[in-house]
Amino acid sequence: MRKNYLLTPGPTPLPPQVCEAMARPIIHHRTPQFQASLKEATDGLKYAFQTQGDVFILASSGTGAMEAAVVNLLSTGDTALTVQGGKFGERWTELCQSYGINAEILDVEWGKAVDPDVIKSKIQNPKSKIKAVFVTLCETSTGVVNDIEAIGRVVKDTGAVLVVDAISGLGAIDLKTDAWSCDVVVSGSQKGLMLPPGLGFISMSAKAWKLAETSKCPKYYFDLKAAKKAWAKTDTPFTPAITLIMALNEALKMMKQDGLENIFLRHSKMAQATRAAVKALDLELFAPRASSDVVTAVKVPAGVDGEKLVKTMRDTYGITIAGGQSELKGKVFRIAHMGYIEESDIIVGLSFLEKVLSQMGYKFQLGAGVRAAEEVFLK
Ligand SMILES: Cc1ncc(COP(=O)(O)O)c(C=O)c1O
Repeated sequence: MRKNYLLTPGPTPLPPQVCEAMARPIIHHRTPQFQASLKEATDGLKYAFQTQGDVFILASSGTGAMEAAVVNLLSTGDTALTVQGGKFGERWTELCQSYGINAEILDVEWGKAVDPDVIKSKIQNPKSKIKAVFVTLCETSTGVVNDIEAIGRVVKDTGAVLVVDAISGLGAIDLKTDAWSCDVVVSGSQKGLMLPPGLGFISMSAKAWKLAETSKCPKYYFDLKAAKKAWAKTDTPFTPAITLIMALNEALKMMKQDGLENIFLRHSKMAQATRAAVKALDLELFAPRASSDVVTAVKVPAGVDGEKLVKTMRDTYGITIAGGQSELKGKVFRIAHMGYIEESDIIVGLSFLEKVLSQMGYKFQLGAGVRAAEEVFLK
């Protein structure tokens, strides 16, 4: 017998209410019952996105919503600024390039947040042709959180729209879509929203719709004008992911009961505890100056095989954490504290991290990490 703990930055664990909703008999989508569910889900998402604008639910993973943003806003030959400080920032560039959009790449050192003033100098340049700025709220591959509020301030009064990948972070850390002037925010179901993978979400501001009027990128499944037209009749253009939308309503109900502020506080506490443990174990954070509250990336210490560490945690003790991606493979491990995760999960995860590190010959005071985390939780 073995219990499994999922401490990865997506998918994240599922609350029982969500699992129960997915076990219910399916209903048909062109019915008043489903329309009521769709309306409830859309209203609930507006709460989670902190927006009065339009929000659409797509049957796709988060990347589908990213693609929807690109193809609905731009045309082949347009210029966009893509901020790349990790694997997911690179995805914006790749998506733009796939559609013949000229991606002006703003490279940021992995482990650092983008400087909003650099974005400012690029888009406030009178010669700038940039129509959209693509950024990432939490760069899951490095654990970095970007200052979206400050970026919103510099993009706001320009002709460009601000597009935020909040796939990692929405519903876990603060992102005020309207108040921070985010024109388009995309997210996915399998992270802060506590659902299985399979839903993509996208919000659109009035400024984004204006740009969408001129967009000539080819699109069909992800055509948001079709989604908007269907939504006028509380409908969707294609068969929606009915079961996942029912489950989404359960997750959103839980989120409303807790309240966004309390959810953000819980995530902040878990992240502080994890970072305190890392320090107490004489380990190093990968992004010490811009650590997100959703996932903590830790440098693999010298003499330890990073991939074996992750594998042993998972295969021997049932604790799944994430390894490094791309150029960080084997160099970092990542502990997520996002979604349906609480203090007890973090304590369990840290205690087994200590156990495996110790078995792998890393020298430290056993219990120091758990103790540091407990001190944070006691505050
Ligand atoms: C920041 C970020 N962007 C994009 C994605 C891609 O999302 P998906 O795998 O749901 O398509 C992820 C998934 O890990 C992510 O963390």
